[in-house]
Amino acid sequence: MTQSLSNPNPTILYMGPIRGGTDHIFRNTFANHFDGYDLAVAPFINCIGTNKITPKYVRVLLPENNTGMPVIPQILSKSAEGFFRLANVLTDMGYNTINWNLGCPYPQVAKKQRGSGLLPHTDKIRQFLDDAIPKLSGRLTIKTRLGREDKDELFKLIPVFNEYPIEEIIIHARTGKQMYEGIPDIDAFETALSMCKHPVVYNGDIRSTEDFKRLSKRFIDINRWMIGRWALVDPYLPMVIKTGKDITKPAHKVEKMKAFHDDLYDQYTRVLFGPSHTIDRMKGLMMSFTLAFKENKKTLKKIKKARTPEQYEAAVNHFFEEEAEWKG
Ligand SMILES: Cc1cc2nc3c(=O)[nH]c(=O)nc-3n(C[C@H](O)[C@H](O)[C@H](O)COP(=O)(O)O)c2cc1C
Repeated sequence: MTQSLSNPNPTILYMGPIRGGTDHIFRNTFANHFDGYDLAVAPFINCIGTNKITPKYVRVLLPENNTGMPVIPQILSKSAEGFFRLANVLTDMGYNTINWNLGCPYPQVAKKQRGSGLLPHTDKIRQFLDDAIPKLSGRLTIKTRLGREDKDELFKLIPVFNEYPIEEIIIHARTGKQMYEGIPDIDAFETALSMCKHPVVYNGDIRSTEDFKRLSKRFIDINRWMIGRWALVDPYLPMVIKTGKDITKPAHKVEKMKAFHDDLYDQYTRVLFGPSHTIDRMKGLMMSFTLAFKENKKTLKKIKKARTPEQYEAAVNHFFEEEAEWKG
């Protein structure tokens, strides 16, 4: 593992879970084309009842489908029993660490006291940990935000987390109410960090090496960092952070991005049901990918409007072959 510039500990980079983005195909393909990430937290799988385990959720986590990088599965649940049952199935499959999602901000999730919706309910979280932890056959990590409405919620929760054997806490330095908007509250993150006796992973808006340098200078004791959306924009970011060098020429980056795109497109074409699913998935990814390039509004419009594989392929090929210019 490469040392980062300003942190004497080896930097560990986590691929952040992005539902609809960083699925097993994306993770494996990313690892075939780019370096830098040490591991990934997978997008959450739901557990609704206590006994209902949905085979399709488990299938995407089969170890043979997850060979690109080490993966920590994530579960969204407010039921301790549902959680430990599903977690133990995953542990039997070979995952010795399972992450609990306490951060999902979407109102339809939060209003049911799941994800970030559970954060104001310290007693319910304590009860969950009391019930789940003794039954877990593997280790537990948590991904959280500063709170649902207010950062004070996490300050009240950390003393509770400190009482339990939790492997690490990943903190996205926003509240649930903020969704993905506004700037992460670094001061609140610092307070939470100072209170927490478990290892902490920083998450939120590491968009560039400059962001990483600024944060790693401030939090010299942290060596675990999670990057979500911004490596979907610039897949070179994790490697440049790790090595401290950006040696790839812009023209080569364009070629590499096309190869990455084509590989993803090929694989989604094989596994998704029908061309419209594949095109929708690829359009979503292209909306992130194209942010790394100088503006091409006309082509983007064509990509968005494409209905058939032919239209999509023509628009994307035109973009990469004729127009794409890396922002640098
Ligand atoms: C579309 C979308 C889906 C996400 N899905 C998940 C998820 O399944 N589990 C989770 O813990 N976080 C999820 N996140 C949050 C990210 O993992 C990350 O915490 C957030 O984007 C902030 O980090 P970033 O600025 O590096 O992207 C999602 C974010 C987005 C934008």
